[in-house]
Amino acid sequence: MKSFITSSDIMIRNAWYVAGFSEEFQTEKLQQQIITERPIVLWRTHEGRVVAFDDRCCHKRMPISAGRFIESGVLECAYHGLCFNSQGKCVRIPSQPDTPIPSRARLTAFPVVEQDGLVWIWPGDPSKVGDTAPPPTPELADPGWDRTTEKQVVPANAMFMIENLLDVSHLYPLHDGNIGNIGYSSVPMRMEVGQINGMDYVKTIREAENLRQSPDFIEMLGYEQIDGYNSQAMVGPGTILAERSVWPAGRRGDASVHRLFRSMHMFTPINRQSNTYRWAFVMPKGQKSGTDPNKLGIQVMREKVPPIVAQDIWAVVRQQQMCEVPDDDFEEMYLKSDAGMAKAREIVTRMQRAEADPASP
Ligand code: FES
Ligand SMILES: [Fe+2]
Repeated sequence: MKSFITSSDIMIRNAWYVAGFSEEFQTEKLQQQIITERPIVLWRTHEGRVVAFDDRCCHKRMPISAGRFIESGVLECAYHGLCFNSQGKCVRIPSQPDTPIPSRARLTAFPVVEQDGLVWIWPGDPSKVGDTAPPPTPELADPGWDRTTEKQVVPANAMFMIENLLDVSHLYPLHDGNIGNIGYSSVPMRMEVGQINGMDYVKTIREAENLRQSPDFIEMLGYEQIDGYNSQAMVGPGTILAERSVWPAGRRGDASVHRLFRSMHMFTPINRQSNTYRWAFVMPKGQKSGTDPNKLGIQVMREKVPPIVAQDIWAVVRQQQMCEVPDDDFEEMYLKSDAGMAKAREIVTRMQRAEADPASP
């Protein structure tokens, strides 16, 4: 057996994924999402909770998301009119009004947690949630941070995006001239592993002294020569939490000149070949651009980040295409800079194998 499942074959259901930013869910507005190949209907109830169910009506598989609310809290299937409440329980069968409603007339629910401005879903077996919880992203709900967010579909396995973010050695050449320069490639990387909210994480950390920053980072954060660090942690198979902190060279630790941004990258597998990617970049409220005192740093991020992300997507889509070449036992090679990525592969391989084995706890 190979030590790692190939990244293009990874798809884990027993995990937390972002189903949306909180503002994507309006009261009683139905939406269908495909998550890990499962059609799922989601809405915010009139009490304010977000709920998620298998989108197949328990009667004849009509998508529930094609239905409508005939009154608050009563959702009618568009085909034969079975009605469901916000627990997914059938409350009316128009064709047999005088017969008790069978207990199996209900929609299959998925666990949902709304936290820190994000709605998370567990598209797998609810009995496997255990004591896990989605990772915290407190900055997204804190008015003390400026933020910019985006959502897009990426035609590649989510795992390639995770690996891309854990591996900062790609800043040169993929992002040469904007956030990359060749000096970054030789900054040593160290790795940390542990658990957050019951989920394994792996974090890669690079610390630099007297490093020349690349142009976009100077504009986002300031300072041409810096001391600084960046870290990026995979928490579960769908999330990267990252930070970049800088000080003018020689002044590391001086809070008066500390500049930073954090970022959250959430990948929700649609299937093995595509994912919905949501990201957020946050900066301490009011932190200025490094080069234009009339501009907020977050405005610079809003302009600069999308073309950088497009470069990453350009690369991972090509990796995905190369994985569609028939398998001839091709083996990738690992460099020192791939240690974090290899750990990530180990974690997701373990999760996927556990999920495939029904006897696993
Ligand atoms: S398929 Fe939904 S009521 Fe028949
Ligand atoms: Fe990148």
